[in-house]
Amino acid sequence: MAIFSDDDDKQKSLSLNINGKSENLETKEIAFDKSFENNIRPQKLEEYIGQSALKSTLKISIEASKKRNKQIDHMLFYGPPGLGKTTLASVIANELDTKIKITSAPALERPRDIIGILMSLKNGEILFIDEIHRLNKVTEEILYPAMEDFFLDMTTGKAQTVKTLRVPLPKFTLIGATTKAGALSGPLRDRFGIIHKLEFYTKEELTQVVTRTAKILEFDIDEEGAKIIASRSRGTPRIANRLVKRVADYAIVKSNGKITKQVASDALQALHIDDSGLDSTDRALMSLIIEKYDGGPVGIETIAAALGEDAKTIEDVYEPYLLQEGYIQRTPRGRKISPQGYRLLGYKVPSVQQSLF
Ligand code: ADE
Repeated sequence: MAIFSDDDDKQKSLSLNINGKSENLETKEIAFDKSFENNIRPQKLEEYIGQSALKSTLKISIEASKKRNKQIDHMLFYGPPGLGKTTLASVIANELDTKIKITSAPALERPRDIIGILMSLKNGEILFIDEIHRLNKVTEEILYPAMEDFFLDMTTGKAQTVKTLRVPLPKFTLIGATTKAGALSGPLRDRFGIIHKLEFYTKEELTQVVTRTAKILEFDIDEEGAKIIASRSRGTPRIANRLVKRVADYAIVKSNGKITKQVASDALQALHIDDSGLDSTDRALMSLIIEKYDGGPVGIETIAAALGEDAKTIEDVYEPYLLQEGYIQRTPRGRKISPQGYRLLGYKVPSVQQSLF
């Protein structure tokens, strides 16, 4: 499997060979290296922790694809960021013993960007497009016949002499990822054979992720230390892996290097991450709604402006976990704090709120 970029490196694109001429699109190819992030990434489905329903579906599809010697269906993965959509796509490529090319919708600005990538693929290879809800209309329309019939519809000539050409493409698989499935157009969504939501990870699954990562990186950690890190990772392996590294640094500097319950708690406190895994932005968001807007409802744009954040970031990054844990609620008139949210931040639940729940 070759990875040309990963999800922490959104500068994409490929060096292409069109009509015998090599063309470098936007940025250089990023060679697969055994760097830190790639080291801790699972390579096989059985190493991939969590998302059991999705893994079962994938196992069958992978096996069927191998038995039939046919490319696997196009897939769409959606859900909050950091749950392993890119990782899973790489695992699928690995299981199928094929290559994956990773890009993201904002890098596919011009028609030639997507055309170049499609033409560079070989039979059975995988094209991964992150943030697929952000594709522009032209690029999206190029993808329709490419996904459905493995053709590119091209035009040549001008005015009266214009001709349409159907250029055959290799039988590739598109894996799209998005944090906003609802923002995808119907025609694009309909062209995916497998559509699956990635769920937040349980504390037990995250404990396994933390333990696995610590083992690969040769950090000394005990079960209780791993549980503390897991419980503060907002259901998200990307955060868990980040915290393992930060806590390991702390353990080396402030202790004997071993990550125990106490060391993990102290390290996370020093990082301003509370018992529930909320960071300062989460808390600022909730305190704002309580203190300035009487617990809500208040519009997302107002919250974003008051926090100096982008509304999209609040919606895509911060809110999903707060909603899932029931600390905030979405109403037609905006966001409001739930009784759990008040209690979590140490506020008294207002009596009006209490009677509503
Ligand atoms: N690292 C990040 N996500 C992971 C997962 N789901 N399983 C194992 N390791 C991971």
